[in-house]
Amino acid sequence: MVSAPERIALDPAAIMPRVIGRYSPVIVDHGKGIYIWDTDGNRWADFTSGIAVVNTGHCHPRVVSAIQEQAAKIIHAQANILAHEPMMKASLALTATLPDNLNQVFWTNSGAEATEGAIKLAKIATGRPSIIAFRGAFHGRTHAAMTVTSSRVKVRGHYEPLLSGVYHAPYPYLYRSPYAGPKEDQDLMYFRELELMFDQLVMADDVAGILIETVAGEGGYMVPTARWMQMVRELCSKHGIMMILDEVQTGMGRTGKMWAFEHFGVVPDIMTAAKGIGSGMPVAAVVSDKAIMDKWAPGSHGGTYGGNAVATAAAYATLQVMRDEDLPGNAARMGNILMAGLRDIQSDYPVIGDVRGLGLMVATEFVHPDGSPNPEAVNKVLARMMEQRILLITCGTYDQAIRIIPPLVVNEEQIRDFLGHYRNAVASL
Ligand SMILES: Cc1ncc(COP(=O)(O)O)c(C=O)c1O
Repeated sequence: MVSAPERIALDPAAIMPRVIGRYSPVIVDHGKGIYIWDTDGNRWADFTSGIAVVNTGHCHPRVVSAIQEQAAKIIHAQANILAHEPMMKASLALTATLPDNLNQVFWTNSGAEATEGAIKLAKIATGRPSIIAFRGAFHGRTHAAMTVTSSRVKVRGHYEPLLSGVYHAPYPYLYRSPYAGPKEDQDLMYFRELELMFDQLVMADDVAGILIETVAGEGGYMVPTARWMQMVRELCSKHGIMMILDEVQTGMGRTGKMWAFEHFGVVPDIMTAAKGIGSGMPVAAVVSDKAIMDKWAPGSHGGTYGGNAVATAAAYATLQVMRDEDLPGNAARMGNILMAGLRDIQSDYPVIGDVRGLGLMVATEFVHPDGSPNPEAVNKVLARMMEQRILLITCGTYDQAIRIIPPLVVNEEQIRDFLGHYRNAVASL
């Protein structure tokens, strides 16, 4: 417990920069599974997973032991100077979950750095200058990552000039498709827009990579169709463009499969992973084929901390827990219960315009009666849930959607308990 004077000393608003806008007033003490405890001893259910990070739950004992044991052996074994077992074991465990062409791993520290790495690798591998990304995407906050991001203008606005040679195509936001024609053909319209870029904006043989979030995250949890994804895959193959899938938020079991691309029948040339891969340790990965990775000459990419021994020990333990506890399978099962429960609430309360997602990557979009985005309702629901000590976060350009992303160790009772509170919160609007 923290005394009053200590609390004042710990006032986050006085200590932390304003740029860290916070969803909750909680000062956390510790966590276990889907729960965290604040410094006053109150228990909170964490349906944010720390933004889709603690997929194995807070402080999974196997991950904790791996970190503790590794920290006592060696913490920093710089990858250009030393090889070490945790990094090599984590690389093998990671590539074992992936198709044959994703067989080498460049370890780095964050999702944004993985984005940087993937863009640089695509450029080096193809010798081409341009990148196509998608409207509504989020890939991180470093300069190149910001350039390929367009989920909210505040992420990139006032930071110009950004990287040149980056073009944005519309991402299938099927709930709000602007195109005429039958609902089931909307994905074709989005694909046509992408193709049109080669006729109007950029030569196909200038494009190094098409960078896609397999399911859009910060931009609003939009799920594309398998047909659209496969058409993009074909387009990439036809023009010698690297298909880069950002699995930073969607990966590590979150969508009910180990990697979200497994839902769509495609395999990327380059994949990025972060968040769930280290259960909270700062670790991320760029994965590709050795033949592509070999285009990176020694020294043409790198970093001091990439492949940190403690971080990759956490990643290795996380990958084992994922497999041994079948967390992707649990995400699929719990996701079905969650989705059915949310659809049930939606049918009673039209303020929920859309329920969408895959596995335990789920969001509900709130709308006004005229169908326009309703962030006010979102804020009220978040506040009501906070009263019940349940943590949630938003997504979408207008914060019009609430993400429901518990750790993948969540059980049915916890999902049903959540649904009861969510129904009450929506009913109170
Ligand atoms: C899809 C996606 N890519 C990249 C990133 C950037 O990751 P990081 O915050 O670790 O830099 C995020 C973070 O939210 C993300 O959701």
